[in-house]
Amino acid sequence: MGKATDKTIGLIGLGVMGQGIALNLMRHGYQTFVYDKDQEKTQHLAERAKGGSVYPRSTLQELVESLEKPRKILLLVRAGSDTDTAIEELVPLLESDDMIVDLGNSHYQDTKRREISLGQKKIRFLGTGISGGEKGAQEGPAIMAGGDYSAWQEMEPVLRSIAAPRAEGQSCCGYFGRNGAGHFVKMVHNGIEYGYMELIAEIYLLAKERYGLEPKKAASLFQAFQKDGRVSSYLVGITAKILEKMDEQTGKPLIQLIADGAGNKGTGKWTSEAALELGACVPVLTEALYVRYLSAEPRPKGQSRRQEAKASFKKEDQEELRQALEFGQYLCFENGLKLIAKAAAASGWDMDLKKLLDTWENGCIIRTEFSSMIKGACKDAEKAGTILENAGISAILKQTRSGAKKVLKKALDSNVPMPCLSAALQYETAYGSQQLPTVMIQAQRDFFGAHGYRRIDQGGMFHTDWEA
Ligand code: 6PG
Repeated sequence: MGKATDKTIGLIGLGVMGQGIALNLMRHGYQTFVYDKDQEKTQHLAERAKGGSVYPRSTLQELVESLEKPRKILLLVRAGSDTDTAIEELVPLLESDDMIVDLGNSHYQDTKRREISLGQKKIRFLGTGISGGEKGAQEGPAIMAGGDYSAWQEMEPVLRSIAAPRAEGQSCCGYFGRNGAGHFVKMVHNGIEYGYMELIAEIYLLAKERYGLEPKKAASLFQAFQKDGRVSSYLVGITAKILEKMDEQTGKPLIQLIADGAGNKGTGKWTSEAALELGACVPVLTEALYVRYLSAEPRPKGQSRRQEAKASFKKEDQEELRQALEFGQYLCFENGLKLIAKAAAASGWDMDLKKLLDTWENGCIIRTEFSSMIKGACKDAEKAGTILENAGISAILKQTRSGAKKVLKKALDSNVPMPCLSAALQYETAYGSQQLPTVMIQAQRDFFGAHGYRRIDQGGMFHTDWEA
C-alpha cells in the first residue's frame, strides 16, 4: 500500500501535533508516509487513520524512498536539538531540491541557521509556525511560513489545503520572508497569546476576589463577553467553558482545585528576548511572562492581604471589566505587531501585517472577533510602527481608558494583582505623554557620566558641569 503519486508527503514526528497534521493531510487526499522512532505512536496513528491514506514506515530510508521527487517532508519533532538531529539523519538520504518543512515551535535564529546550512546543501527549507493546538492541527491550524521561496510556491497548495478556512479569501496560511520570518511571527503570536491570556486571567481573579463571583457566575460574565463582538475571541470562549467545568472526583468547580504555578515552553521568553535585542518596548507581553515566573517562585503561604467582605457585583462593574479587557487587548496586540514591524525592518522582511492578520483570522489561539479593527490599523502600523495612531483604535482606547483605570484602582484597593492591565495602562499613558521621566534620566546621566543630552530648543549634543 502507499505508492508514490503527485500527492505524497513525508511526515516525521508523531506526537499530538504530528498525528493531527497526518490526519488532516489524509482528509485532504494526500498520501502521507509517516515515521516516528517510537513505533507505538506510528501504530496508534495507523489505528486512528482507520485504513485511510496514512502509511507507516519503519525507517527514515523507507520513508524517503516512498516519496515522489522533489520530496516534501514535514518535521513535527520537539524544537531544539531533536530538530537538529532529525535534519542531520535525514539530509544524507535526500537529493537536491528536496524540501524539509519544520512545523515545530523552533527558535527563529535556529531556523535562520538551518535555512543557510541546508541551502548550501541544495536542500530547500521552510521554517513554518503552526497554531491551534491539537484540535487545530487536525481540523485546520493557522500556518505561518518562511524560508526558501520556491519551496513555499510548491508547498503552498498543500499547506493552504490543511489550514483553517477564512470567511472570505484564501485560508489562514501565509509566507512572511526568509531568514526565520515564519518562526519569528509564530513566536510573537505566542508572546501575544501570553499577554492576552494573562489579561483575561486577571479579569477573572478580580471578579472572584473582589466581587466573590463563583465560577458559574464568572462563567456567565465571560459568556456575556463572548457574545459581544468587541471582546469575543477563542480565549474568552474557552475561559467561560473552563469556569463551568466540574471536577469528577470532588464535584467541585475544577478551577478551584488548580495550582497557580504556570508553565511555559519558552516562546514567550524568546519574544521578550527578541524585543530587548531590538530595543522594542513590549511591557504587556513581558509582564505576562513575569507573572508566570512569579507564579512558580516560592511565596508565603496562608497569608492574604485581600479583603474578606466582597463588593456587590453590578451592571456597571461588568461594563468596567469589559472595558478593561477591551483596552488591554489592543495594547497587547499593539506590542506584538510593533515588535514584528521592528524586526521586519531590521531583517529586510517585506512584512505585510494585513496578510499576517488574515493568517491569524481563524485556527490560531489568538483568533478574535475584533481582528478586523486591528486589520484596519495595519497600514498605520507599517507607517508609524504602531496601531495606536489609527483613528479607530485610538477612539476605542479613549472610550475604554476610564473603565480600565477604575478596574485597576479597585484591584489595588482589594489587593488583587493585575500586572498586565497595569502595564497596558502605564504603557498607553507613557505613549501619550508629552514628556517622559527620562528627561531627568538624561540630566542625571550627564551629571555623573558626562554622557551628554539634547535640548528641545537647539540642535546638537550638550554637556553641563552640573556642580560649577
Ligand atoms: C499554539 C500555541 C502552542 C502552545 C505553545 C505555548 O499557537 O497552538 O501557542 O504553540 O500552546 O506551546 O505553550 P506554553 O504556554 O507552554 O509556552
